[in-house]
Amino acid sequence: MSRIPLGYLDSAGARAAATLPLTWFLLLVSIAVCLAITYLLWRALRGPAGTIGADGKAPAVRRGEGAARPILVGVAISSVILLIALGWTMVALAQVAPMPRRPEIEIDVTAHQWWWQADYGASEPDQTFSTANEIHVPVGAKVLLRLHGADVIHSFWVPKLTGKTDMIPGQVNLTWLQADKPGVYRGQCQEYCGLQHAHMAFEVVAEPPAQYAAWRRAQLQTAPPPATPAQAEGLALVEYRCAVCHTVRGTTAGSNVGPDLTHVMSRRMLAAGTLPNNRAMLAGWIEDPQGVKPGTLMPAQQLSGPQLQALLAYLETLK
Ligand code: CUA
Repeated sequence: MSRIPLGYLDSAGARAAATLPLTWFLLLVSIAVCLAITYLLWRALRGPAGTIGADGKAPAVRRGEGAARPILVGVAISSVILLIALGWTMVALAQVAPMPRRPEIEIDVTAHQWWWQADYGASEPDQTFSTANEIHVPVGAKVLLRLHGADVIHSFWVPKLTGKTDMIPGQVNLTWLQADKPGVYRGQCQEYCGLQHAHMAFEVVAEPPAQYAAWRRAQLQTAPPPATPAQAEGLALVEYRCAVCHTVRGTTAGSNVGPDLTHVMSRRMLAAGTLPNNRAMLAGWIEDPQGVKPGTLMPAQQLSGPQLQALLAYLETLK
């Protein structure tokens, strides 16, 4: 399980594809401009040096015939390129701005310092669930995302699937995405939001519809009852300590300050894309969250060795 690169120079979905040629055009133009300026600067520096006169002053610059021509040519080229960029941007905006009329999936995504909450709504309350830092979508489906900000302004960005949209407290912004092929696509908060802004990543997992349906069914399940004494002790710790912030559906833990942990071990990463999710990383995260992610609201638990092992034994059943 490794970290997926962001990669904005190719696309995996209709919304990102609409802006990709424009991205490349502007990137290549920018590179060409840098090269042209570097060349002109180099040529100017290599030209004949002006001599200092007897009075200690540099000679006055003399403008010959047609000296204004390079300036006019430069302005003309820039104007044409900028006009093309303007027109192209308008066309690309018109393609990506309208929201899908009949989205197959609607998800409420709430950005917190520093993690992502994804709520899958449904008309039947028992068909709704909440997950964190990992958004599953079926391949080919138009997905409408309602974006919320819980505390400060964050920004939602999955470069291979969809552009940046701010997530503002007290306001609901809309965006959409559609993944054309199965895969895991990394997203990242794109608005500086405090100490752990860089550790505010998430993943969009695009799956074939049958696999997505299976994932959805699994997410709707409540947590299984503990099967061993160690797991039972772990559950007691969850209900006594973790319950202050977290939910584990099917237990008395029902707080919504931090991520819903009912299926925490089904997720690829921990702490908003900061750590790969396995028993060892989970242990480190529980014992020293401030060492991993300074400033996070997760406090260190200061458990004894046996307590930590019991807690891990229980958490590992939350698949
Ligand atoms: Cu959230 Cu940057």
